[in-house]
Amino acid sequence: KEGPPTLFGIELKWISLITLALQNAFLTIIMHYSRISTAPGKTYSAATAVLLNELLKGSISVIIALKRIDTNMLNSAPPPVYSEKSSSRNSDRRSPPSAFSMFQTSRLTALRKAVLSPDCYKLSVPAILYVIQNNLQYVAASNLDVATFQVTYQMKILTTAFFSVLMLGKRLSKLKWASLVMLAIGVGIVQMQSTSAPSHSATPIASPIATATAHHGEHQLRSEIPTTPNPVDSIMSSERVMHPFKGFIAVTLACLTSGLAGVYFEFILKSSSGNAPPPDLWVRNTQLSLFSLVPAIVPIIVAPSGPDGMGYIGRVMSAFSNFNGWAIGTVLTQTFGGLITALVIRYSDNIMKGFATSLSIVISFLASVALFSYPITLAFVTGSTIVLAATYMYNSPGTPQQQSSRTTVAVAPG
Ligand code: C5P
Repeated sequence: KEGPPTLFGIELKWISLITLALQNAFLTIIMHYSRISTAPGKTYSAATAVLLNELLKGSISVIIALKRIDTNMLNSAPPPVYSEKSSSRNSDRRSPPSAFSMFQTSRLTALRKAVLSPDCYKLSVPAILYVIQNNLQYVAASNLDVATFQVTYQMKILTTAFFSVLMLGKRLSKLKWASLVMLAIGVGIVQMQSTSAPSHSATPIASPIATATAHHGEHQLRSEIPTTPNPVDSIMSSERVMHPFKGFIAVTLACLTSGLAGVYFEFILKSSSGNAPPPDLWVRNTQLSLFSLVPAIVPIIVAPSGPDGMGYIGRVMSAFSNFNGWAIGTVLTQTFGGLITALVIRYSDNIMKGFATSLSIVISFLASVALFSYPITLAFVTGSTIVLAATYMYNSPGTPQQQSSRTTVAVAPG
């Protein structure tokens, strides 16, 4: 059996987890900033951002899937169309363009066949859930500060564990459950170690991440309902108001869809039909993006049209208006994250993905220490040590991941 895939001698599993932690830290900050840094009514459309994300992810997945089909074909016996031509007159120079183009065509045909496999419909479930989740994320990022969003979004670790046990039949040892609880405690300590809140505050969390990114080190709570705009926001967005309750509901629903979609995707990815090996990750990703397109387009179509009398063109114009550099940066970061997430689910699992996103909180904090001279406190050191210890404990070789055979059953649900 081949060993685990590596890059530069490091297991791909670890590279993808660390990259995901970094990406998550950056995404939370840039998404929030891109939403709050414009005047009300001048914010870009979240639905369009989600659609662009899916289009981009889908295109990248197609390219990688094509490349991999290419490699597979070259590794196996040469395809008949290719060898037939090359065995003619000049065996050194198998350059005839027709042979090349026939080879390209066969690659495309192979990909089309793989993508339109009889079981491709299974991907429609996680595709719809992810589109809903991605839209909810924008609602949450628009209505919660960075820190509150990050900490509440950690609930997805628990929803993921719950769905993993329920759907994948994973049985977590006591040690693994203990490490999940430790993780929650560690995250809480890291988050709450900053300024203590005034007693009248509705949501007493103000983290260095939020304050450092939004206020450049100045501590200020932004959690009253509706939140009082901070000075920076006030300058940039006159009367922007956040609604933490709406944000909290959005983030809670996003946690549920995240857990369910992730586990469902993992189930499809790791289950096989009979003796056939499971299809390639990038074929699955292409299927996922294809099924995402319809639910991603619907909110744009049903949205109120643009300026009166402009009909279809006005609708398209308003869907793409206000896309500034921050918005594009957010879409690119999210696309990158989607691709890395797929790798993490493939080479590790969804619960480990949760640990990577928890580490992202520690990374965000360290970034704010480096960038905004935020002081390192004992609580921070304690909280992050617990997070790191929990991550190690969960993944410790002494505790083999017990997984029931349900992940390799022949028929996936749905
Ligand atoms: O918050 P969470 O980690 O659940 O977010 C997962 C993100 O990864 C979503 O934006 C989802 O669209 C994306 N994803 C993806 N391809 C996959 C799995 C997840 O783009 N195969």
